[in-house]
Amino acid sequence: MYLSKKSTQLFAFIIVMSFNFISFSQKQIQNVLDRTTLSLNGDWQFIIDPYKMGYLDYRQKPFDESASGKGGFYDNITNPGKTKRAEYNFDYEPSLTVPGDWNSQYEKLEFYEGVLWYRRNFKVSLKEDKRYFIHFGAVNYESHIYLNGQKLGVNKGGFTPFQFEVGDKLIDGDNFLVVMVDNTRKKDEVPTINTDWWNYGGITRDVNLVETPESYINDYKVQLAKNDAAKIKGYIELEGSGGEEPVVLQIPELKINQSYTTDANGKVTFEIPVKKIQLWNPESPKLYEVKISSSQDAVTDKIGFRTIATEGKNILLNGESIFMKGIAMHDENPLIGGRLRSDGDMRMMLSWAKELGCNYVRLAHYTHNETMLRLADEMGLMVWSEVPVYWTISWENEETYKNAENQLRVSVERDKNRASIIIWSVGNETPVTEARNVFMGKLVDKTRSLDDTRLVAAALEVEREGYTITVDDTLGEKLDLASFNQYGGWYWSEPKELPKYSFDIKFNKPVVITEFGGGALAGFHADDDTMWSEEYQELIYINQLKMMDKISGLRGITPWILVDFKSPRRQNPVYQQFWNRKGLISNTGVKKKAYFILKEYYRNKSVK
Ligand code: GCU
Repeated sequence: MYLSKKSTQLFAFIIVMSFNFISFSQKQIQNVLDRTTLSLNGDWQFIIDPYKMGYLDYRQKPFDESASGKGGFYDNITNPGKTKRAEYNFDYEPSLTVPGDWNSQYEKLEFYEGVLWYRRNFKVSLKEDKRYFIHFGAVNYESHIYLNGQKLGVNKGGFTPFQFEVGDKLIDGDNFLVVMVDNTRKKDEVPTINTDWWNYGGITRDVNLVETPESYINDYKVQLAKNDAAKIKGYIELEGSGGEEPVVLQIPELKINQSYTTDANGKVTFEIPVKKIQLWNPESPKLYEVKISSSQDAVTDKIGFRTIATEGKNILLNGESIFMKGIAMHDENPLIGGRLRSDGDMRMMLSWAKELGCNYVRLAHYTHNETMLRLADEMGLMVWSEVPVYWTISWENEETYKNAENQLRVSVERDKNRASIIIWSVGNETPVTEARNVFMGKLVDKTRSLDDTRLVAAALEVEREGYTITVDDTLGEKLDLASFNQYGGWYWSEPKELPKYSFDIKFNKPVVITEFGGGALAGFHADDDTMWSEEYQELIYINQLKMMDKISGLRGITPWILVDFKSPRRQNPVYQQFWNRKGLISNTGVKKKAYFILKEYYRNKSVK
């Protein structure tokens, strides 16, 4: 094909532009943790760049869209020589630990919002017949990725994984990976500019170089069929297969050893009748070893099998009625005031929930680390998983919707094999407008099209008149639960008044209260009329539990929140100091009086 100069230029422009379009990532490699990987975690040099000097020229044009494509910090010039002018040099810069947000690692970065550059040098010995992907667990918020000076692409969304295939850009030997991260909040993004959590920036989750065979097992789903505990249903998807290929699914403990042949696209779906299967539940979170192999690849996973459904106002786990004793939590380690980084951090949070007597957690308000879900599988905690469609999103902006839907899709695809996840939430406290109903309605439909085996919900808001609390948000009609937040005794009324209130819930669905609670500074004691005292928070819990116990069809609660967490919206100098103090445990691990009220309530509450 002969390309004229004009068309050559146009072609070059399209190539460059395509790299700057947000690549709503293709299907991720399922279960990266069980693949051949080179971890790129550890120390990365960094450069703070509030003026985007490493990305834009003085005419504010991106260097990577220039004719040469060069000029930005991604060139990683470290030995300019005496005649060349370079006004940056990663070799002389301090480092940030990855995974980890930048805010909790340097005091000067605590409040930093803007662009920051990361660089990681690494060695690889390339193998002929292998493919290579760079996989990020999550980077907040917008990230531009460059390998050896070449742009791989852009990702938006701070809580979901993304990957790029890099075989053609990797060097056998020394390589350098440069990531421009921008956590600037913007109105049309997801989340939007206003959140009650810290806008932690950076490469917050694991980074891996993943090596696969030419043809590899890209994706699989192995779960029970919808409401059918006697049938395992799913699919296996090969990538790079030349067409029909043999694959094998083995679940040794269930004596399942099934051989299949994929279709021309490398995909096979299956349904396998099962008899004596031990179903996953919080008391006995049974996980089975599942092995999938193809002619060139093999992957092993630990998967639990359970069914979840609603029946009128009841929630049925494995066909049995269940009450969800829950607690809400952020992806934050209160002891460092930063994102959870290690298995240990995550296990700490979930152990605190178990110690409280929980069988259920609401992982708010965004997709948490994959390891968190795998630990919930192992520890026996049911999970409410949510995408950050939070408060007032730009409902009429098509790009905003695509972004939200992409985060939802990637989240469901990543975690579809986790038994712990029983509920997909499409958002929190979103205002009831027509545009919002359309936006959220589409997200609900998308969720059901991606996974019909779990419940779909959202944290709705309530109306109040006198002593009646009404739940009649139209979006509720599309959801499986009547789930809502209510802050009686804190944002409205007062703790003593709560027993006078009653609920008018317009849906014949299980009622799940997704948030209630109040703030208290641990160690501050006074009478129960004094806000911020442990006694005030304690009375909120005593009377909230009384008020909620009157609700027919109450099948679960997730008090807000397990532990104090950082928020830029909390500036009371005496009681808050940028911490939301609604935790039952303080940021130094102190259990507040209300903690023991809830623990006692759960000890006495039947799960049936
Ligand atoms: C809201 C919101 C939370 C917030 C909480 C609070 O309901 O969903 O993200 O932290 O209330 O005000 O403490």
